[in-house]
Amino acid sequence: MGVSVITGASSGIGAAFAERLAAAGDDLLLVARRADRLEELAGKLKAAHGVQVETMVADLEDAGDLARLEARLEAGGFATLINNAGAGGLGPTATAGADAQEKLIRLNIVALTRLSLAALTGFRKSGAGTLVNIGSVMAFAPSAGGAAYAGSKAYVLNFTRSLQMEYADSAIRIQLVMPGPIRTEFFSSQGMSDSVFPDSAFITADQLAGAALAGLAAGEKVTTPTLVSPEIWDEMEKLRGRFLGDVVGGKVAERYTGG
Ligand SMILES: NC(=O)c1ccc[n+]([C@@H]2O[C@H](COP(=O)([O-])OP(=O)(O)OC[C@H]3O[C@@H](n4cnc5c(N)ncnc54)[C@H](OP(=O)(O)O)[C@@H]3O)[C@@H](O)[C@H]2O)c1
Repeated sequence: MGVSVITGASSGIGAAFAERLAAAGDDLLLVARRADRLEELAGKLKAAHGVQVETMVADLEDAGDLARLEARLEAGGFATLINNAGAGGLGPTATAGADAQEKLIRLNIVALTRLSLAALTGFRKSGAGTLVNIGSVMAFAPSAGGAAYAGSKAYVLNFTRSLQMEYADSAIRIQLVMPGPIRTEFFSSQGMSDSVFPDSAFITADQLAGAALAGLAAGEKVTTPTLVSPEIWDEMEKLRGRFLGDVVGGKVAERYTGG
């Protein structure tokens, strides 16, 4: 309960979170560029759930629009930020070009970072709040044609998990959600083909939002809704620990010293 802010609420995962949170009684601030989509969703949610829904048309790649939302979040009064707006694969870097990569970085990294920090500033005023950052399993999948996207989601992973450590002793909850393939407009709206994944690889945006909220309620810090074998995550974490233990031994590995 309270007011939840959702970026990228005009379609897909953001709209699915909006539906679920409104059904749970949250008032909403919905953010995206397409005013008509936001208004339509707001009208539907108000009528169906009797909640208050405000819309904000903002291009989060634009510094001025981003600053407007940051100011709202910093002022406080919000219970939750779902940091969801994101853009996807651009194709090979040689053809996509540097400007397109920079635009992706502005949305997936700069906006997500600035909005996280603004929300946390607001949450510190009341001593509580929930930040949900939408990453991707692509954080673990460097891929030709997805360089900036996979890189940006690896950033979201490490950024969010570092924030969790900073706020471990507070009442502020921070969750990282890592979707696999989700049936949304993500691929088609950006001129990508979703046929790189078989049909059977997809779940719906509503399934994703439902699982993410269940994970949050269970106190999970990292929720990967389609990870059916959670022991794999535990093994990865153990390996990560071993790797980090190994690299701080203060010596160069013998294979590089001819020794
Ligand atoms: N679909 C998947 O398979 C998948 C898998 C893993 C992670 N994800 C992540 O899930 C998140 C949501 O994606 P989705 O699948 O729901 O895709 P989607 O249906 O295309 O939704 C993307 C949302 O982001 C908004 N958006 C895009 N650029 C924006 C900008 N410059 N400023 C403000 N809003 C902007 C779009 O609204 P407007 O166009 O109206 O601005 C839309 O509401 C992304 O972070 C994505 O990386 C998706």
